[in-house]
Parts: sequence; C-alpha cells; structure tokens
Amino acid sequence: MKKIILLVIFANLFIWVAQAQDQTSWAKRVDTGKEVVTTLQFYFHDKLSGSNPSAVQIAQAARTNNSGTLFGSLLMIDDPLTIGPDPTSKLIGRARGLYGSAGQTDMGLIMAISYGFLDGIYQGSSFSLLSLNPVMNPVREMAIVGGTGLFRLARGYALAQTYSANPNGDAIVGYNVTIVTYV
Ligand SMILES: *[C@@H]1O[C@H](CO)[C@@H](O)[C@H](O)[C@H]1NC(C)=O
Ligand SMILES: *[C@@H]1O[C@H](CO)[C@@H](O)[C@H](O)[C@H]1NC(C)=O
Repeated sequence: MKKIILLVIFANLFIWVAQAQDQTSWAKRVDTGKEVVTTLQFYFHDKLSGSNPSAVQIAQAARTNNSGTLFGSLLMIDDPLTIGPDPTSKLIGRARGLYGSAGQTDMGLIMAISYGFLDGIYQGSSFSLLSLNPVMNPVREMAIVGGTGLFRLARGYALAQTYSANPNGDAIVGYNVTIVTYV
C-alpha cells in the first residue's frame, strides 16, 4: 500500500514538473525523466598498410618526421566496425573521421570520429566521439559527445583496448561503449 501511495505521489510530481517546463510558446520540452542506457561492443579495424588502406595520412608538419610521437601527423579514416576481432566477421558499421598526433612527449591521438551503424535497429544511427586517445595506455577512455537517430542527444564514453597491432601501424581495437539517451 505504501508503495502504491508513493507511486501516485511520484507520478503526480512528474506530471507537475513536466507541465512546469512546458511554458514557452516557441519551444516545447517535456522531460519524461526517463533515460535509455545503451551498451555496445564491437571491433575497429584501422588499416594503414597495403594497396587499400582504411586510414590515410592527409597532412603532416615539417617536424613530424623528427618527432618520436609523430606530432603533427593527421589521418583520415573510413574504418570498418565488426562484431568480432576477425576482419571477416559481420560488418556492423563504419568509423569515419580524423585522428591526429597531438602529443609532443607521449603518443596521444586527438580523435574526431563519427561511428555510424548499418545493422538492425541501429541502422542509420551514429554517435560522435571527440577525445584524446592515449594509445600507449592498455585501456583508453574517450568521450562521446553526441549522436543521431537512436543516439540523439547521446552522452557517454568508450573504453578501447588494442586487440592486435603490427609494425605497419595496422590495429584492431576492441570498443566497449556506454551511451545514455532519452526515450
Ligand atoms: C617524412 O618521411 C616520409 C617517409 O619516409 C617521407 O615520404 C616524407 O617526404 C618525409 N617528410 C618530410 C617533410 O620530410
Ligand atoms: C569489454 O567488455 C567485455 C565483456 O564484458 C570485457 O571482457 C572486456 O574486458 C571489456 N573491455 C574493456 C576495455 O572494458
């Protein structure tokens, strides 16, 4: 009984708060108080080598070659996202954007990348990641700053961990992503 009374009080409070926020004629906003938490897990394939690389260098500073951290190098990517670490596993999306070496003393990539999805209900939805990627750390936490479709108004974070890498700079990276959106 107590629980039911509490529920009724909360529901009324809720409607009252929603109405209180809906007072401007030129803009409407109803806060339902409900959030959706989406967690994603996939693999990112960054291929610099070979005749068909998915990551290409588009610019570099004069001093980049003399920098141990490749400071000033900028790459454009269109990297496949797959369900598993195997590059032939199911394609679920593509990561398109830029990353550049932004660290002078240690390897740090500034990532400005849109992760767009092709599969299931997420087809056509994307989230945008804008963050520094300290690539030498075993696990890198990066900020998700927005999104489209099911990821509208997204905020969240990605945890990235290198699955494999070779001396050519090719890398397969595992991503665990947590995104909060509104209903
Ligand atoms: C840097 O090194 C690369 C690869 O060796 C070379 O192609 C490029 O011309 C060099 N760039 C400069 C600015 O020296
Ligand atoms: C990602 O999630 C998987 C499954 O829960 C876990 O085994 C793995 O350690 C996680 N990786 C990171 C970097 O959080």
